[in-house]
This record gives sequence, C-alpha cells and structure tokens, in this order.
Amino acid sequence: MKTGPIIRVIIIAILGYLVLEFLGTTGEQSVFVEQPWLWAVLGVIIVFHIAAEACIGALERVLYLTLKPEARERYDREYAFAKANQFKWFKDTYKKLVGGKPIEQEGEIILDHNYDGIKELDNNLPPWWVYGFYATIVFAAIYLVRFEVFNDYDQVEEYEAAVAQAKIEIEEYKKTAKDLVDVNTVQLLTEVSDLNAGKSIFEGNCAACHKVTGAGGIGPNLTDDHWILGGGIKNVFRTISEGGRDGKGMVAWKSDLKPSEMAQVASYVLSLHGSNPPEAKEPEGEIWLDPDAPVEEVKVEVIDSTQIQVIIEDEPVTGDIIED
Ligand code: HEC
Repeated sequence: MKTGPIIRVIIIAILGYLVLEFLGTTGEQSVFVEQPWLWAVLGVIIVFHIAAEACIGALERVLYLTLKPEARERYDREYAFAKANQFKWFKDTYKKLVGGKPIEQEGEIILDHNYDGIKELDNNLPPWWVYGFYATIVFAAIYLVRFEVFNDYDQVEEYEAAVAQAKIEIEEYKKTAKDLVDVNTVQLLTEVSDLNAGKSIFEGNCAACHKVTGAGGIGPNLTDDHWILGGGIKNVFRTISEGGRDGKGMVAWKSDLKPSEMAQVASYVLSLHGSNPPEAKEPEGEIWLDPDAPVEEVKVEVIDSTQIQVIIEDEPVTGDIIED
C-alpha cells in the first residue's frame, strides 16, 4: 500500500483543524469547544478528501493497466527515479553539514595504528560544528567591544528597562481587562467616560431607591459625609457588590453588574459627594475619614472643649468629641 495518500489525508486533517481554529477563535477557548458542530465540518472535509484520494488512485491504476508494455516499463523507470530523488535537497544538505566520508572512501583517512583490531578514522570536523565555532568567536568579539569597551548597558539597566516595560504592559492589560478589578484593587475612576457610564448605570438601577440626585429615599443619602457601610471607593464598591445589611433593601449587585460597571457606578456615587441636592435625606451612619488620605489634607481644629472641626480637602465637617 502506498503511504502518500495516507500522509496527505493526515496533513489535510491537521491543516483543516488549524484553519478552522485560526479563523474561528474569539478568546481563550478553542472554537471546537465553543462550536462542537465544527467537528462534523472537519469530519466531512476528511471524508471528501479520502473519497477523492480513492478515485484518483483507482483512475491511476486503470490508466496504468491500459498502457502498452514498453510504456509501462518507461513509467516504472520514471517512477523509481522520482522516488529515489525524493527529498534529494534535504539529503544533500545533511551530507554537506555532516561532511563525513562515505564508507567506500574510508581507506583514505584511516590512521595507521591498530589497537586490538580497533582502527581510527581521521575525519574532518563536521562543517556545522566548525561554523558554529566561528560564530561564537564573532559573537565574543562583538560582545566584548559593545559591553566592555563602549559600556552599552549593564544588567541593572536591563532589569530596570524590563520592569518599566512590564509596568506599561500591565497598564495596557488593565485597560483591556477592566473586569479584573475587585474590592482590593478597585480605584476611583475619574475619566469622564467612566463617570458617564456610571451615571447611566445609577439612573437605570439605583435611582429608584437613592433618587437620581443621590439625595436618598428608601436608601440613604449618598452625597453627604456620613456613611453607614463606610465611604471611599473600596467600601462603596464592596457595598454595591455584596449588598447592605440583611433586610435593609440594598441587594448585592455582583450578579447583575460586571466588576468594571460596579467600579464605574461606585466612582459616580463618590462624584456626587458634597453636591447638596434638594430634599436630601438626613445623614445616616458615621462621618467617614479616609485612613489612606494624605495627612496634610485633613486638618483638625478644636472649637471648644466639646467640639472639633475637621477640614477634609477644604470642606469643614463639625463633630462631637467622643470620650473613650
Ligand atoms: C431597593 C432599593 C435600593 C436599590 C435599587 C439600591 N439601593 Fe443602595 N441602598 C439601599 C438601602 C436600603 C441601603 C442601606 C443599606 C443598609 O443600611 O445596610 C443602601 C445602601 C447603599 C450604599 C451604602 C450607603 C452608606 O451609607 O453606607 C451605597 C453606596 C449604595 N446603596 C449604592 C447603590 C447603588 C450604586 C445602587 C445601584 C446599583 C443601589 N444602591 C441600589 C437601597 C437600594
């Protein structure tokens, strides 16, 4: 049996697989997992190819049988010649790279000593090895001049450049993979596009209980300094993601909103801070001071022995001194 058709069928199967995979791929998963019917398409392609191979094989056989004896002989000769010269280029290149003498010519390079019948051949070094060796010499010379004479860069610089590059790539990646944020990594978004997206999420989902302005209704006022569940982007993100206290009406939104959307609406909520909307609900909860805020931004002034004024980012907030 000829091996040609079998090899061609295998190649078609692999190529078909790769082409479908390449054209159809959308994400991390293989298209064949997402669209299992593609296996059927690939199967049909392979079956058609096998059928075509069988037809061509049969046709060749019939044509061969109709040849006259001398033509048949010529065909056989040409076929044998083509077969012998298959992969000739590879075989020749391999021989050149190894550079060994064929067995018939070994007599020319045999050394004239003989150890218990073991003889030694004086083959040349294989050309692949010799050229590889020359390449290392050239490499060493260039390396020496570049790094020892002209001090191009050293390991520390190389490391720092790699870290800087990696940071840029991480930033890029974060931009495309916004949904990686969670409560530990979320940061206040200030881009207008993010805040606008947050605004429409808020108006669509939250305004019913918090009012469009954030002034509060069923839910608390979101624009004042007081927070029941903690202010700041991390706490607000957590409240939106996990919900409020049981039975209060604030559900967990993590199954309805993507992490990026929760970050947007959380940032939008914080952007409402200090907007003093009309008909605002009474403050609930505690004044929230950001423990990570730079100290210069929080100024504490004693008004008298019972009251202090805390100035956060130029906004005064007055509260009672709580005695321990
Ligand atoms: C069904 C009414 C309702 C909806 C809808 C609702 N909330 Fe609330 N929200 C509440 C209530 C009630 C609370 C108070 C929870 C508590 O006391 O534990 C609250 C609390 C909060 C808090 C914490 C306030 C604080 O003082 O700590 C934030 C932030 C918040 N909601 C944001 C949102 C956002 C953003 C949405 C929309 C995605 C939303 N809420 C939708 C009712 C709602």
